Amino acid sequence: MPEMPAPWQLRPMQEADLAAVATLEAQSQFTPWSEQVFRDCLSEGYLCRVVTDVAGAVVAFVIIYCVLDEAHVLNIAVAPGYQRRGIAAALLREMMDVLRPDTRCLFLEVRESNQAARALYQRLGFVGTGMRRNYYRTADGHEDAVLMRCELPA
Ligand SMILES: CC(C)(COP(=O)(O)OP(=O)(O)OC[C@H]1O[C@@H](n2cnc3c(N)ncnc32)[C@H](O)[C@@H]1OP(=O)(O)O)[C@@H](O)C(=O)NCCC(=O)NCCS
Repeated sequence: MPEMPAPWQLRPMQEADLAAVATLEAQSQFTPWSEQVFRDCLSEGYLCRVVTDVAGAVVAFVIIYCVLDEAHVLNIAVAPGYQRRGIAAALLREMMDVLRPDTRCLFLEVRESNQAARALYQRLGFVGTGMRRNYYRTADGHEDAVLMRCELPA
């Protein structure tokens, strides 16, 4: 398993993490996944990873679904008090190393209004490839998803 920069630790998500992961999700998303959805991701064998601090508390997670030589980032979040410390960038870079060389391409969808996530992905080499109209719910309607893709050179 690759190393995150100190003091963060990257490890596989476990059943015992699910409550903390669901709490972090609820703090991070407008339409959060339930704890059961994360449990299903674990049981389906998706790549589920958490980042912990020195005390072992979960500060970030990522869920990635792999099919043949493609992978999809289904969910990623960093706890509000830990953002802008490079955790998400380091986490995604480590996951790209885990995915190589079997995975050729990484895909994701992001809310058009999510400037933080779009800036993160652009910085990591993702490029926009299209839009899904009205894909996400908002407080007063819907908003588009931006589709992004990142080639993973071997
Ligand atoms: C998007 C998210 C995962 C970024 O996590 P993070 O650990 O704070 O990101 P990093 O510190 O690794 O940021 C890396 C780069 O991304 C960009 N970035 C991250 N957050 C940003 C923000 N709020 N505004 C602008 N740029 C931002 C910057 O280029 C940043 O580099 P810099 O800090 O040197 O300027 C985090 O904001 C989050 O969990 N948001 C809520 C959940 C979410 O939106 N998930 C994505 C769903 S598609």
